[in-house]
Parts: sequence; structure tokens; C-alpha cells
Amino acid sequence: MHKQKGPIGVFDSGYGGLTVLKEIVKELPQYDYIYLGDNGRAPYGIRSFETVYHYTLECVQHLFRMGCHLVVLACNTASAKALRSIQQNDLPHIDPERRVLGIIRPTTEIVGNYTKSRQVGIFGTSGTVNSQSYPIEIEKFFPDVTVYQQACPMWVPLVENDEYHSEGADFFINKYIRQLMVQSPDIDTIVLGCTHYPLLIDKLQKHLPPDITLLSQGPIAAGSLANYLERHPEMEARCSTGGSRTFYTTDDTETFDRQAGIFFGTSVNSRHLEL
Ligand code: DGL
Repeated sequence: MHKQKGPIGVFDSGYGGLTVLKEIVKELPQYDYIYLGDNGRAPYGIRSFETVYHYTLECVQHLFRMGCHLVVLACNTASAKALRSIQQNDLPHIDPERRVLGIIRPTTEIVGNYTKSRQVGIFGTSGTVNSQSYPIEIEKFFPDVTVYQQACPMWVPLVENDEYHSEGADFFINKYIRQLMVQSPDIDTIVLGCTHYPLLIDKLQKHLPPDITLLSQGPIAAGSLANYLERHPEMEARCSTGGSRTFYTTDDTETFDRQAGIFFGTSVNSRHLEL
């Protein structure tokens, strides 16, 4: 048993996980949090399985060294490509009492409750889509649901480069929406399966048919974490409750602070992490 309590770690390849952290702190404000964005090596969505796994493991280990007992991968790409190996192969050696949770499972557990047509769409990075994680996981909980996926490789760069309000963004948003909807006009529920995409929600709503339900993962992940801590009092007891939020980026802190405010909703003051 670790004597020292620690913050909850929240990890993403860049800024996207801040849309998740924002909802987590709304739901569970009492805990301390450390956010780590691997901006220096983002985007992850176009990288190989091995690369995403090694980058994610390295960042998780940094969060463990900073005192976190529990880390949330607020990144679909990392959850799709690294979570299982970390949970099954690495954690038993590193420390069997620490935990790493992903963001895909909580979404797939509930998506079937929203769709009437039983036709669900997923927008994600190429890495997430190619991993087939969403269709595989949704099949376990809702075998009657058919899943259609669309990779949106231009959306993360639009968000990371603050171009998501531009006319260029409309072009690429429309393009991937059409490519998804042509697969099945009966899709009535779409998962924003990348934590960057909630920033595009206004434009997505503008271009999508009005009766489509769009699911953002922040509130889902926050509810799932609250539920996890209730079911695991031994882990809850290891989470410190000072209400602090600490931000690390592997890239330039000034740029991070400027952009992060948009994702997190309030200004942040980050520290640099040298990998
Ligand atoms: N935000 C990450 C996700 O949820 C992906 C961003 C990236 O490509 O690095 O998948």
C-alpha cells in the first residue's frame, strides 16, 4: 500500500484531453489533477501502433513518478493502441497497484442507449479507426448495433493550429460527414471519438442533419471515473483531495497556455516536461 496519496493523472497527445479534464473537474472538483499533453510529439493519430504505445507508456510512467496512482488516457488513439498492453503487460511489472483507464470503453458501454435506428457512426483519427476498437467494443455491449466509421485526419491539425473556425475547416468537416453518411443514411447517433473534436461541435452541427445525436466524451468519461472511484474505494483513498490542477506539456509552455485555455475554458499556467 502506498502511503502517499497522489493526484489523478490525465494524459493526451496534446490539447484534446483538456476537453475531458474540464468535465472531470466539474464532476469531481475535490481531487488534485495533473494533466500531461505530449504536444511535442502530437499528433498520435497518424503514427504506428508501436510508436503510440511507446510514447504513451513513457508519459504514463512520468505521471506515476509525479505521484499519480490512477491515470486516465483521455486520448482515443492512445486508448486504442496502448491501453491493453500497458494494463496487461506493463502494469504488473511497474506497480500492480496503479491503474490506467481508457476512454473508449466508457463510450461504447452507453452508445447503444442513444440510437433508435441501431446505426451508429464514429468519427476518429486514422489510428483509432484502423484499430477497429469501436466496432469490437460496441459489439460486446450492443450486438444489434451496426457501426460505421470515418477517419478524419484533417480535423486534429485544424484544431491544433487554431484553424477550426475558418472556411477551410468547413470544407473538411463537410467532406468527412458526407463520407460517413453515405455509408448509411440511417445513422442517428455519432460518437466524437477523438477528444479534439468537441471544439468542432458548432461546425459539425451546422453540417449534420439536425436529428443526429452527437456524443462528446468529456461528460461520459467524467461519469465513468466517478463511478469507478465509487466502486474502488481502495483507489479513491489514494487520490489526494487538495483541488489543485497542474499542467505539463512536452512542448513550448507559452503556446500550450495560449491554446489550452480554449480547450479547458480557463487560463492555465503549464510547466515543461523534458522527455
Ligand atoms: N485527441 C486524440 C484522440 O482522442 C488524438 C489526437 C492526435 O492525433 O494526436 O484520439
